[in-house]
Order: sequence, then structure tokens, then C-alpha cells
Amino acid sequence: MPILAARDDNIKKAAKRLKEGDIVIIPTETVYGMAAHAGLDQAVVKIYTTKKRPRFNPLICHVKNLEQAKQIGDFSLTASALAKAFWPGPLTIIVPYNGEDRVALTTRAGLETIAIRVPAHPVVQALFNYIDFPIAAPSANPSGRISPTCPDHVQKAYKDDLFILDGGPCIYGIESTIVDCTGVDPVVLRHGAIAFEDLQAIIPTIQSKSQTDEIKAPGLLKSHYAPSIPLRLTCDHPQKNEALLAFGPNVPTGFAAVFNLSPKGDLTEAASRLFMGLHDLDQPTYAGIAVMSIPDQGLGVAINDRLQRASYDR
Ligand code: TXA
Ligand code: MG
Repeated sequence: MPILAARDDNIKKAAKRLKEGDIVIIPTETVYGMAAHAGLDQAVVKIYTTKKRPRFNPLICHVKNLEQAKQIGDFSLTASALAKAFWPGPLTIIVPYNGEDRVALTTRAGLETIAIRVPAHPVVQALFNYIDFPIAAPSANPSGRISPTCPDHVQKAYKDDLFILDGGPCIYGIESTIVDCTGVDPVVLRHGAIAFEDLQAIIPTIQSKSQTDEIKAPGLLKSHYAPSIPLRLTCDHPQKNEALLAFGPNVPTGFAAVFNLSPKGDLTEAASRLFMGLHDLDQPTYAGIAVMSIPDQGLGVAINDRLQRASYDR
């Protein structure tokens, strides 16, 4: 099936497929998602199978607005304050589940909590006008691989005949920030498109989960986002036939190829181009990918989190 322009007729077809329990690849402002009707076990199972995703790893539910989110989760004052500040947008909020049978156990991987997001992308918002159920959607990459930020990344990653809605390149290009609001103070479980400092401005007591803590988001495995060739961090000297993922104006020479995340050294731009750069340099003709060091502040925290996992020795 070709990649389909996100016209109204194709968005209607996508809605029909979702109702019937089929999967659809959707654009979002963060990364492309592999979507299914969140309430149908047999639909959600197709996501796990296609991505080869471990069944213990729950999926984020996407809904149209906070009102619909409240039909599946209990929102504390803190959770509501975050939702009001950042939705629609790249924030995922984890709350206690209260949706009866609206979200299948397979979607939640059996947990009593639920991760919810209201995406801002106009194509998904248009899709919501034709459906009345939450959409389960993980990032559309095969499990453990680099997340897709354009339709081509998805099409190349699978042999399956996928229904892909083309919403253009993703504006943020990095996944949503995940905040767990089930405890006393909210905790950031995954750094992402919304910087920690921006969350702190709304909820000053918000915590950040350190990487050494016990894994709470079941999907946050040490190895993830992996290219098919080796990747090493904080490099400024090339090894033989190595490609460079660069950052900033001062780029070392001697590499077989260079993809600069942001020649002007802007972390927001770098985050939006991270997966694009990894996909671009992940070619068997190179011996590996070297990455320059990236400041660990603002969106740099989310970038370094992804790169650390991408470099993890498997
Ligand atoms: O930007 C995004 O969030 C993208 C777009 C498509 O929305 N989605 C995405 O989904 O990144 P995924 O499945 O690749 O990552 C979701 C993460 C996983 O690590 C999963 O374990 C965690 O969220 N998660 C989901 N439900 C959870 C829950 N109830 N408690 C803790 N972690 C949860
Ligand atoms: Mg993912």
C-alpha cells in the first residue's frame, strides 16, 4: 500500500480501519505512531506482533481532549494542571485507570495505571472527529530500533503492507515527555519533547527519575533506539570509515560522512533532527556512528537519554 496523503477521504478510511480492528500508521507532532483501537484486544495484539514488542510493555492511549481523557483516567489537581498547560501537545500523563472496558487489558499490559496523551497534530485531531474511542499508539519503529519521524522511515522498517497516513515530517522529532502522576509528587519517567524546566514552571515539586533507579516505565530498556551499526558517544576523533553525528559550529574533520543536528548549536533543533540523523547515518557502508558531546540541559537531556540507549552494548 502506498503512503497516503492525509486528505479527508484517507482520514475517513483510516477511521474505518481502526473501527474494524486494523492498524494504521499515524503522524503525530513527536514521532510516527502505530495506532489501533485501544479497546479491542485483537486489534492491539497486531501492534505487539508487528513491532515485535514485549507484551509487558504498555501502550500510550491517545484521546481528543482532557474531557475524553477523564473517561479513562483519574486526574488529580496536579495531573489536571499539567494537562491544561501542555495539551494538546507532547506530554504523556500517567494516572490511575478508571475506564471500565474502554481500554483493553492488552493495551495496559495488565497495569492499573494508564498513560494518556492528547496529540496536537492536525491529522490525528481530524481523525478523532470520526471515532469515539481512544487510540493505542506506540512509536511506529520495530521494537528497540530508531523511532520514525517521517513516513519513509516506517515503510522501510517493515515487510508488512502498512496503511500509512502522511502528515509530513514530525515537528518535535523526539517522543513525548512522560510524567507519572500516580504518587504524591509527579515524576518524569521519560525525558522528551517538553523540557523538565518547563514542567517545573507549572509544578515546582516535580521530580526527575534518575536512570539508575529501578525501571518503572516498563518500556524504558537500557538498549533502545539502536542503529544497525555501532554507535559511540562523546567523540571528536574519527575511526576508520566512521560517520559523525555532529552538533554545533565546530565540527571535527576526517569522518566518512557528517550529519549536523544543529550547526548553530540549538538544542530544540537538534532534538527535532535526532532520529532523522540516526536513520540517515545508519548505513552498512559505514563502520559505525560517532556522536559529538551534547550539552545536558533543556532538550539535551532527552537527546542524551536516547543516545545513551542507542549506544548501549547489546
Ligand atoms: O511521543 C510519543 O509518546 C509517541 C507518540 C506516538 O505518541 N509514543 C511513544 O510510545 O513513544 P512508546 O510505546 O514508544 O513509549 C511509551 C512508553 C513506554 O516506555 C511504556 O513502557 C511507557 O510509555 N508506558 C506506557 N504506559 C505506562 C504506564 N501505565 N506506566 C508506566 N509507563 C508506561
Ligand atoms: Mg518507542
